[in-house]
Amino acid sequence: MSADDITTIEQDAAAALPALLARSYARYSNFTVAAAVIDEQGRAHLGVNVENAAYPSGTCAEQTAIGAMVTAGSRRIARVLIAAGSNAVVQPCGACRQRIAEFASDDCEIVSVQDGVATQRAPFWSLLPESFGPRDLG
Ligand code: THU
Repeated sequence: MSADDITTIEQDAAAALPALLARSYARYSNFTVAAAVIDEQGRAHLGVNVENAAYPSGTCAEQTAIGAMVTAGSRRIARVLIAAGSNAVVQPCGACRQRIAEFASDDCEIVSVQDGVATQRAPFWSLLPESFGPRDLG
């Protein structure tokens, strides 16, 4: 996949996130989040946060999107795009950083999306240095 290809795929996925926010089930926090995980083949996998009356049973948007990616047969993440209904820049929570680490490529980026456009990006591994991961288990 060329750099131009991933840029186009990322722009399309970012543009899809504002509408996806309407599917978030954020009944308790009212904090809606939508995410897109782009795999190394350039396929976008979408997710929203899904809360639960038993609060800890709720899931983050990134978690939903990673599950969709694995279900679709992919194992490597090139980009994670995140949009919040508040339109604020949102970074993945600690637990989701660990979930992303399981599948992140060496050059994986976390991309914040506002109004359907990427506004901020960070190399994923700068957000989770010195992490524990699959390599530690051999
Ligand atoms: N949330 C996400 O889905 N992703 C994040 O990166 C941060 C937080 C969700 C979890 C919960 O449903 C709501 O936002 C408030 O914490």
